[in-house]
Amino acid sequence: MKRIAILGSTGSIGCSTLRVVESYPDRFAVATLAAGSNLELACEQAIRWRPQVVSMAAERDADALALRLKVAGLAEIEVVWGPKGNVRVATHPEADFVVSAIVGVAGLEATYEAVRAGKSVGLANKEAMVAAGELITAEARKQGKPLLPIDSEHNAVHQCLRGGRMDEVERIWLTASGGPFLNTPQSDFASITVEQALNHPTWKMGRRITIDSATLMNKGFEVIEACRLFNLPPSKVEVVVHPQSTIHSMVEFVDGSILAQFSVTDMRLPILYALTYPERVPSELRFPVGDLRHLDFCPPDMAKFPCLRLAYEAAEQGGAKTIALNAADEVAVAAFLDGKIGFNAIPAIIEDVISATEAGKLESIQQVLELDAEARRSAQHRVQQRSVASSPKRELV
Ligand SMILES: NC(=O)c1ccc[n+]([C@@H]2O[C@H](COP(=O)([O-])OP(=O)(O)OC[C@H]3O[C@@H](n4cnc5c(N)ncnc54)[C@H](OP(=O)(O)O)[C@@H]3O)[C@@H](O)[C@H]2O)c1
Repeated sequence: MKRIAILGSTGSIGCSTLRVVESYPDRFAVATLAAGSNLELACEQAIRWRPQVVSMAAERDADALALRLKVAGLAEIEVVWGPKGNVRVATHPEADFVVSAIVGVAGLEATYEAVRAGKSVGLANKEAMVAAGELITAEARKQGKPLLPIDSEHNAVHQCLRGGRMDEVERIWLTASGGPFLNTPQSDFASITVEQALNHPTWKMGRRITIDSATLMNKGFEVIEACRLFNLPPSKVEVVVHPQSTIHSMVEFVDGSILAQFSVTDMRLPILYALTYPERVPSELRFPVGDLRHLDFCPPDMAKFPCLRLAYEAAEQGGAKTIALNAADEVAVAAFLDGKIGFNAIPAIIEDVISATEAGKLESIQQVLELDAEARRSAQHRVQQRSVASSPKRELV
């Protein structure tokens, strides 16, 4: 029986993980859960799964949850909160495997501490790898424990890499759906609405990653994540647009052979793979091969989607540059979702913040968090400047 800690249990990946756990009651049990602010769902999950510990982001919600669990006769469930609560969930002695699925840099510390505590980690939270991948992978190597990618592209690469040795890899190909604006002329980008940007053509995901998919920043993060997970330079990680999202990614070997992984577009499959690795277990997640008709591929348009270019540049420089990339994106995407800035302002703000950031070597998670806070302040300042500059009559840019 594998006992699972889920960081971000109330999110899209967290809920998919619980569905996998539910499908395999003889293999998996829930050890601990960490949620953000969705009190109703966290309470429902705690009552259903009876974890040892539940964490909420805020003390107020933790108090409310503790009260509800007491009324439900479950006072023995420990309720904690905040970053320390997330770490408690991630490092609990009852947990064998940690699914890291908190969105944003909020998931960083707990993910790192899980690795440091010698847990096997299934990694969905890509922002942790973007901000502190060098430190996390170094610690995982030290602990001799795997970091198993849940992100469908890296999961696909992980599967394809079982077909050869790392020194036989020529490059990896990350596929990108292209997002909802693949065929939208650049001249229309300034008027893109939040609703349009949240309408992803192939995947149903959380709000931030959906906007990141629309700007192709999500693919940029994945390039950085791939470099760090598989120890490859950015020049060996290519992006190819593949609107059907059927091929999840590919590995090209030195002899010219290319291995691709394809399957249904359902995150339960990469989650199941990570939870059961190195085994494969039967599932109902079948791909109807007979229905396959068209698979289209084309290079990404870096001019139309500057976020991808910015991510490659940050990947080359590493250190504080990738921290700034993630922090500025997180702030700019939140501002876009709040209607404070336009779609085109997202890359503009990120580029400004990165240019103002010195690269530099990272020594500790504390330093990463400080640099993250600094980049966030810088991004907030730029958001404010743009919000003030745009009157209701002027278009948000
Ligand atoms: N969804 C996908 O298909 C997919 C695919 C690949 C990678 N990923 C990555 O996986 C991560 C999660 O994505 P998602 O789509 O599942 O996002 P989501 O649906 O927005 O869920 C985010 C989760 O993080 C929790 N959370 C937010 N702030 C928190 C905090 N301060 N402390 C504790 N928990 C906090 C949320 O809690 P509340 O809801 O309770 O506030 C929620 O459980 C992201 O890094 C994303 O890039 C997602």
